[in-house]
Amino acid sequence: MSEKIPWWRSSVVYQVYVRSFADANGDGTGDINGIRSRLPYLRSLGVDALWVNPWYVSPLNDGGYDVADYRDIDPRFGTLDDAKRLMAEAEQNGLRVIVDLVPNHTSSEHVWFQQALASGPNSPERARYHFVPGKGDHGELPPNNWTSVFGGPAWSRVPDGDWYLHMFDVTQPDLNWEHPEVRAEFEAILRFWLDLGAGGFRVDVAHALIKGEGYPDAETEAQEVLSTPSGDHPLWDQPDLQVIIEEWRRVLDEYPDKVMVAEAWVPSWERLANYVQPGKYHQTFDFHFTQSNWRADTLRKTIETSMGASGAVGSIPTWVLSNHDLIRHATRLALPVGTNLRDWLNRRVDLVADVELGERRARAAALLMLGLPGSVYLYQGEELGLPEVHDLPEAVLEDPTWARSGHADRGRDGCRVPIPWTREGNSYGFGDNGSWLPQPPQWGEFSVEANEEDPNSMLSLYRKAISIRSKRLRKDEVLDWIDMGNDVLAFRRGSDTLCVVNLGRDSLKLPEGEVLLSSVPVDDGFLPTDGAVWVSIES
Ligand code: NOJ
Repeated sequence: MSEKIPWWRSSVVYQVYVRSFADANGDGTGDINGIRSRLPYLRSLGVDALWVNPWYVSPLNDGGYDVADYRDIDPRFGTLDDAKRLMAEAEQNGLRVIVDLVPNHTSSEHVWFQQALASGPNSPERARYHFVPGKGDHGELPPNNWTSVFGGPAWSRVPDGDWYLHMFDVTQPDLNWEHPEVRAEFEAILRFWLDLGAGGFRVDVAHALIKGEGYPDAETEAQEVLSTPSGDHPLWDQPDLQVIIEEWRRVLDEYPDKVMVAEAWVPSWERLANYVQPGKYHQTFDFHFTQSNWRADTLRKTIETSMGASGAVGSIPTWVLSNHDLIRHATRLALPVGTNLRDWLNRRVDLVADVELGERRARAAALLMLGLPGSVYLYQGEELGLPEVHDLPEAVLEDPTWARSGHADRGRDGCRVPIPWTREGNSYGFGDNGSWLPQPPQWGEFSVEANEEDPNSMLSLYRKAISIRSKRLRKDEVLDWIDMGNDVLAFRRGSDTLCVVNLGRDSLKLPEGEVLLSSVPVDDGFLPTDGAVWVSIES
């Protein structure tokens, strides 16, 4: 790779959902020592860094996005020493560890919130959060009509009459980012983790933080803004939050080579680009990519627009197909284009996912994504081809969405089922004593062991693709589209590599050149429907 291109502009980052990755102490919950034991696996995959979902002390009401102590590890995940060891050992394996920063809200068990509750209305302790008197003759109505992302109102009332804001669960009170103590505290938290050796931060709901002045009523529900790329909402993407990003970036720049990636669900690519202007975030996930239908025109528009908008501010896209909040893409791609995925998950539409189709498309999607300029984030298990576990028994569902939606929305547990490492055995090698979410009977077929036995498995494809990507595709950021028909995505990377994805109905004659890697057999010289290929066009 050229010396001039910073590592993160073309990195492959692997997302570890700690609770579900590997369980070293056999309590059914993944832990830091489990991650440490699997570093050789991550190294063999060829990724540059890990993003580790929240591991802090937490009641785990929202999988750890409800932090009670930002400077310590939850005992279920290990100790601070384990985290330090992980960061040091990861570095020895050439891997950086990106920590999840959760600045928008704390847990209600955080000492600040406990102090706020104890201190009463108008106290300085309450000023760190959004405590507001209610409306109505006796303050019995919430301050406005905002709804929580997990369902129900975004305000809850405490016994002395004040209301507090929680955009997510009632146990996740929103912090007041206009308050200097809040800003100072998070600057100190950034330094705490950077000093321990963190490679950077993934920032949770980075488009939140600042709320519309005076708490005006919203015209849309908060959930709609997260899922639909349109509209304004006084909870999201307020202009004043950009200053906070600059403050954080100055801290990161004191340490060499760190990266800060934003989780920002904003309505347009232009607004997304605001987050990656010089002096702000290094990266921001492009969720438009995850939401794009499996159609050549839609995907091309997404890629072009993303590259154009980020390029206009000197940045480069950050691609993602799956994460711990989304229905796994092997399943999304197994459903007819345009299916309302939440309706499908919640059994409001009667459709059976075509597993083979999903796998074929997921393989092609991997070569598409890994063929693009920019950074890529992989979600644990996608390299094994894991599908969504859409039929978890209701009794085991833990996502707060399930309860807060009045059992209308099953939530996100189906993409968080613990990883299968072996074909058989207790929890398929996840740990020695079961797993916190039940694994389905076919899980062993997706295991690392089963994948490693098959040279054509999903894992083999990912390993080869990441290896070829680092040798050939990271040396520059050039993408040139090539016209091979309306249903085909074809582009040249640099001067010597061609990436072709066939989304049409007919097989496509392969372009001239040596096949480097393909998602399907192409020995007959043709690329079938839903196949992708990388071709060397070196002269
Ligand atoms: C986004 C995280 O990815 C999600 O898992 C979490 O529930 C919300 N932010 C609230 O922190």
